[in-house]
Amino acid sequence: MTVISPSILSADFSRIAEEIHALQAGGADAIHYDVMDNHFVPNLTFGFKFIEDAMKASRLPADVHLMISDPGASLDKWLALKPAALTFHLEAEPDAVPLINRIKAAGVRAFLSIKPATPVSALSPFLQDLDGVLIMLVEPGFGGQAMLPSTVAKIAELRNLAADLEIQIDGGIKMDNYKELVSLGADNLVIGSGIFAYSDYAAAIAAFRK
Ligand code: DX5
Ligand code: ZN
Repeated sequence: MTVISPSILSADFSRIAEEIHALQAGGADAIHYDVMDNHFVPNLTFGFKFIEDAMKASRLPADVHLMISDPGASLDKWLALKPAALTFHLEAEPDAVPLINRIKAAGVRAFLSIKPATPVSALSPFLQDLDGVLIMLVEPGFGGQAMLPSTVAKIAELRNLAADLEIQIDGGIKMDNYKELVSLGADNLVIGSGIFAYSDYAAAIAAFRK
């Protein structure tokens, strides 16, 4: 079954608990938190306390996507939030194994992400250690961008390399393209504007499950 992980990047942060309640009531499987440091990406979002408080608003698993430089420096603080999954970027830490091991030792699922310009082959040394991979379909930094068509082939390429790995995809996923992406092997869809553009989140999430 395809996992639907709404990204709260497109939510109204002044009403975050209400927004998360609506996503939970609407059938979301997890909440995706996009952490940006205005260094690894040209945008700044939120930090430890925001996520800690937002996590209190629901019982859904938290999926924390770190778009930050030097993720190892702050890793223990993200792990202390006890998310279900923690994702960092291979471009931010090419020596990924020690971080993957620290994440798994904390009882958190370890995901590694690649930006559009990074090939799937760069993931090969890490695949056996990971719980999942996050393939970015846009340049990380902002919600509401159009999916880059050049990234789509990476989904099938990775699925061929790793039959059982969880493949999460993120960026520009909309009702008119998700079916192809799932058929190529994606099993976890991170969706921001594709859900928040609709006033009825439950109807939007239901549409992505069809
Ligand atoms: C982009 C973030 C995404 C983003 C997705 O840097 O990682 O999670 O919020 O938003 P949409 O679905 O609007 O592209
Ligand atoms: Zn994300």
